[in-house]
Amino acid sequence: MSRTVYVNGEYLPEEDAKISVFDRAFLFADGVYEVTAVVGGKLLEFSGHMARLRRSLGELGINEPASEDELLAIHREMVARNGLDEGLIYLQVTRGSADRDFAFPPADTVPSLVLFTQAGPVIDKPTAAKGLRVALLPDMRWGRRDIKTVQLLYPSIAKMEAKKLGKDDAWLVEDGKITEGTSNNAYIVLEDGRVVTRPLSHAILPGITRASLMRVAAEHGVTIEERPFTVEEARSAREAFITSASSFATPVVEIDGVAIGDGRPGPLSMRLREIYIEESLRNAI
Ligand code: PDD
Repeated sequence: MSRTVYVNGEYLPEEDAKISVFDRAFLFADGVYEVTAVVGGKLLEFSGHMARLRRSLGELGINEPASEDELLAIHREMVARNGLDEGLIYLQVTRGSADRDFAFPPADTVPSLVLFTQAGPVIDKPTAAKGLRVALLPDMRWGRRDIKTVQLLYPSIAKMEAKKLGKDDAWLVEDGKITEGTSNNAYIVLEDGRVVTRPLSHAILPGITRASLMRVAAEHGVTIEERPFTVEEARSAREAFITSASSFATPVVEIDGVAIGDGRPGPLSMRLREIYIEESLRNAI
């Protein structure tokens, strides 16, 4: 069945959904995006994703395509038109279309706005029960990973490299420390139960799931230490997990060929997954 895709004010069958070859995202990856999970037809963490979208746009000086209320209405219309019960909504904003020039086009250039849906389970995924095996690869991305740009070639190459190694994903390493996963934030659990994750900076994306998970973890008495952690600490961790909108919290059972704990999803990781899902479903809109 053909999906309905949103392109610059129109809801179109996917085969008619088109963007100009002069779009700055096509030519320069000059655009940003958000991925929002949908469960039971409701949006999870919507205001968090929209706040980060505004920040990404602001950092790059791209005009805002619509207000948060308008974006909410478009998301809801996409859920309705696509009969989306469970899945993801992808949103992309680009600087718009202009003749190819490294210099930005005039400040009043109209941004492009595109949304599409991807149906499929987000809660009951086999990876959640089995856990992920991650390779370690050098982080060769640009220096502003805090901006959610569509410039995803290196993460995509790293994911393929991990697959070639027979793993599910890669964690990226810079100066001997883990930054994050190819499309998720990374955490380890120490022997004493403390959770360690890298602090926010230009080196990682400020995950919306990360922020909520840290809040609910603290409410449940779990200590989270924000500091960079080394490859050695990761390899000898008691547990490990990732977070993202599409995976919530998902356990990691192997890092760089070394089994983590007993090689099965760790109890704290699974508990944090449960309480995060509970909380985000409660707040879904
Ligand atoms: N990825 N770090 C990176 C590099 C990411 O691409 C993502 C999200 C995250 C987690 O952010 P959040 O919790 O807000 O989803 C961290 C999305 C899901 C994607 O690219 O599909």
